[in-house]
Amino acid sequence: MSRRPIIAGNWKLNLTSAEGVELAREAARAARDADAAVVLFPTSLAAPSVRRALDGTPVEVGVQNVWYENKGAFTGEISPALALAEGLTWAIVGHSERRRIFGESDELAGRKAAAATAEGMKVILCVGETLEERQAGETLEVVRRQLEAGVIPVRAEPLPESLVIAYEPVWAIGTGRTASPEDAQEVHAFIRGWFRERFGEREAEATRILYGGSVKAANIAGLMAMPDIDGALVGGASLKADEFCAIIRYKEL
Ligand code: PGA
Repeated sequence: MSRRPIIAGNWKLNLTSAEGVELAREAARAARDADAAVVLFPTSLAAPSVRRALDGTPVEVGVQNVWYENKGAFTGEISPALALAEGLTWAIVGHSERRRIFGESDELAGRKAAAATAEGMKVILCVGETLEERQAGETLEVVRRQLEAGVIPVRAEPLPESLVIAYEPVWAIGTGRTASPEDAQEVHAFIRGWFRERFGEREAEATRILYGGSVKAANIAGLMAMPDIDGALVGGASLKADEFCAIIRYKEL
């Protein structure tokens, strides 16, 4: 089965609306006739302007985080319903920075993923081990635990169009240290195997599993050559137009 690759740009806490609109226009030019679907994740403040600037292009825009209730007394949060009202169709859930810096649990990631997909959003659920966990040989165990907590609550909702997994080893994020294609492939195959075990062959084959962690133009082609790597969630390199456009058009590298 062929899975359409996704190249996603996670801008984190960077770029004003004006800067974001400029970068998004360049990404949209690169996305024209590209193999991969392109999704951008600006800050929540910039996302609506970026979204409007991309009208008439295939590039989609999402939010970097979302709460699991649609409205109410949740100071500082945004919800799936409000994101969708702005045309923001994707949400990142369970990013390691949310887990580590903001103390979000596996269980919270599952609640958010379930709420966002139930509302009609598409979700990128991030999983991945820390350096200590890798060194202790716990990588697959950690990833399994995060999948159980993050994916099972979503199960009643339509998969796999609306749920994408991103394997992001924490030690590779923002460090310039990418997992080797082979090491990444091993975990991606494990993730697909977990889907197979849980939901069957069809869903496992259709589920897209992205890699994230210091992806750049120089290493994207090697990663994409792996059979179970279906795209990338790109942080730092998504902030530089030339670099990100080259990643979008990785087939030509
Ligand atoms: P990085 O970030 O590409 O800067 O390592 C990836 C991510 O956090 O999604």
